[in-house]
Amino acid sequence: LVFGCIFALSAADGDDDDKNYVVTSRPFPDGFMFGLATAAHQIEGAWNEDGKGEQIWDTWIHEHPNVVFDGSNGDVAVDSYHKYMDDIACLKEVGVQYYRLSISWARILPNGRNSNVNKPGIDYYLNVLRALKDAGIQAMVTLYHWDLPTALQNDGGWTNPEIVDLFGDYARLCYQLFGEYVQMWNTINEPKQICHGGYGIGAYAPGILSPGVDEYKCSKYVLLAHARAWRIYNDEFRSTQNGKITIVIDSDWYEPGTDADKEAAETRMQFIHGLYGHPVYKRDWPDIVKQRIAMRSQLEGYSESRLPAFTEDEIDYVSGTYDFIALNHYTTYMISASDEPAIGTPSLDNDAGVTVWQKDTWQTAAIDWFKYVPWGAGKLLRWLKSTYGDIDIMITENGVSDQNGTLTDDHRIRFYTLYMSHMLDAVYEENVRLTGFTAWTIMDNFEWTLGYIGKSGIYYVDMNDPDRKRVPKKSSTWYANVIKTGCLVD
Ligand code: NOJ
Repeated sequence: LVFGCIFALSAADGDDDDKNYVVTSRPFPDGFMFGLATAAHQIEGAWNEDGKGEQIWDTWIHEHPNVVFDGSNGDVAVDSYHKYMDDIACLKEVGVQYYRLSISWARILPNGRNSNVNKPGIDYYLNVLRALKDAGIQAMVTLYHWDLPTALQNDGGWTNPEIVDLFGDYARLCYQLFGEYVQMWNTINEPKQICHGGYGIGAYAPGILSPGVDEYKCSKYVLLAHARAWRIYNDEFRSTQNGKITIVIDSDWYEPGTDADKEAAETRMQFIHGLYGHPVYKRDWPDIVKQRIAMRSQLEGYSESRLPAFTEDEIDYVSGTYDFIALNHYTTYMISASDEPAIGTPSLDNDAGVTVWQKDTWQTAAIDWFKYVPWGAGKLLRWLKSTYGDIDIMITENGVSDQNGTLTDDHRIRFYTLYMSHMLDAVYEENVRLTGFTAWTIMDNFEWTLGYIGKSGIYYVDMNDPDRKRVPKKSSTWYANVIKTGCLVD
């Protein structure tokens, strides 16, 4: 930016842990891009309309309505299947350069397989993508944001090796159908939530409780499926479509409780980010993860490690399958080294050998939502650079929720200001190559097992309003101003 940032900030100060921190107005790097994100199941509704197949979140919630905090579901959500032009009007009003949205696999392929293609589903995404193009907004499209066609779940889902080819077929079809409109692809969103949430602790669909066993099988096939989709794009479409493609990894920052906990905190980082990042940005599972799971498996009487090995060919196949690092980040945890945990039911924390906690002084605005720990964002970016090297990084999600959806959401502005400021510190002080920021999310929507009580939109939606009107919150004007000026401003 030629003139720099001449805007005064009312000096938002740090969080409870970081009281002396003062935010200063600074420009984002040249060419920096701003976006807004959503995901199909959280916004579209129309769960069984126009030939869409059932997917695991439909099925899981219909069969177990009590898994959602407020007893709601995503059947109608904010009705973006019919109201996508309202979403695009919000995007235009805020002035984002790109929109991160996801495709519902079951809307395109009702039973997950290419033998049965649903034309109305294809038309829906073509309409959205063409409207984005007309609005001059780029598309960042996620192929998989947690909504596996139920028919594929019935065949074993992410623990059946067949998923690798099926995901590849689905990905290829999407590139063929939509690729001319898509500048950035995300293969898979948040593998940790898919495998740890879905197959480990059973807190997310499909709700399977198999910690450390199916959980790690899922990790392996998710990574191979991602690699298949990346390689198909790279080999067959890149030269004509010119897009970028990568996996979206979610990671908290893990802060050592004391100096003596540094190794434990690093181990925890490797179990969370490294489990997915290391095979892709480097090679194979991280050593410490392999060692610890092998050691624990042996103590538990398994004949081989619960962490399935990659063959040499698979290691090569997954390694290097990224165009940039895509990071979803929300919060931070403190880590204490624990004595070697007793043998019993495996768990990720026991496998890592750590105790995970948060400080009571850290704030949050909604039940069960992430705590505000802005400085963790800066530390995480620095860690990514020192661990994986000098790679472009895009924040593909960051944001905060409240329960009332207040229009004067000053706390959200403060949250974003502090998080962005700590990210800019990493850019200015350590030359971290941060190239984009995506706010979660356009409008209040279906927050998975929190239902509609976790409201993190910069637009409000009254869920009793049949029109699901999108109403701007103060933060939408604030974000528009950041984008317009390219500066971190009040
Ligand atoms: C992670 C997920 O990708 C998104 O679907 C979710 O709503 C947000 N983070 C907030 O929890």
